Amino acid sequence: MSRQPDGEYIEETARYYEMRAREYEDLYYRPESDRREELGLLARFLEESMRGRRVLEVAAGTGYWTQVIAKTAVSVTGVDSSSAMLEEAKKKHLPTDKVHFVLGDAYALDRVQGDFDAAMVNFWISHVPRGRIADFFDALHARVGPGARVVVMDNVNVPGQGGEFVEVNGVDDTFKLRELRDGSKHKVIKNYLERPALEALFARHDEFEYHSGRYYYWLRYRAAA
Ligand SMILES: C[S@@+](CC[C@H](N)C(=O)[O-])C[C@H]1O[C@@H](n2cnc3c(N)ncnc32)[C@H](O)[C@@H]1O
Repeated sequence: MSRQPDGEYIEETARYYEMRAREYEDLYYRPESDRREELGLLARFLEESMRGRRVLEVAAGTGYWTQVIAKTAVSVTGVDSSSAMLEEAKKKHLPTDKVHFVLGDAYALDRVQGDFDAAMVNFWISHVPRGRIADFFDALHARVGPGARVVVMDNVNVPGQGGEFVEVNGVDDTFKLRELRDGSKHKVIKNYLERPALEALFARHDEFEYHSGRYYYWLRYRAAA
């Protein structure tokens, strides 16, 4: 993994999720009914967007969204840096003829085997240092090729949720303090990207579509050449 100046935050994010794997999915079962409704919208959007596609899923985690698109996609390769997360994903027993989980680095997608015409990037870009977001997407587009459909989802900043903001001096990113059940505390990069920044980031691509709700935003586009 990265040894650049921001490498320590990238590594801390990976470590934090490795430790969080067993409790990660709780977040999808919170009681608020409006949140559940939004999650339903996200699921339908993904099912439809990935229908008939060969999907590279970046930072697949516990496979929560993999199981959703497994219904309509032709194949899914879910990459994640955490073996504990992937163990949880494998417990879902998704069809092995179409779903593969592989240990890998989202910053080295050129090493992932497979033939893709779509990508799914869920709840990942908020953890990428701002200075690397454009490079991350360039590498993703190079991997999936022009014409591929790309879906990105992430959190909207809801005050009071997802841990408190913490300052890290001299860094152009925002961080949150996250506490796990074992009491350990982790300073994790969490950049909330808003619509104008996302529109600028994907301006050169085609068929850009953006949606947002109270808790989440979800978008898709077709990667340009
Ligand atoms: C917020 S979770 C998202 C998981 C899943 N996409 C979802 O929406 O439920 C972020 C994921 O990124 C993974 N991750 C952290 N650093 C990574 C890296 N450098 N390469 C690949 N995955 C990484 C974590 O293990 C974790 O599963």
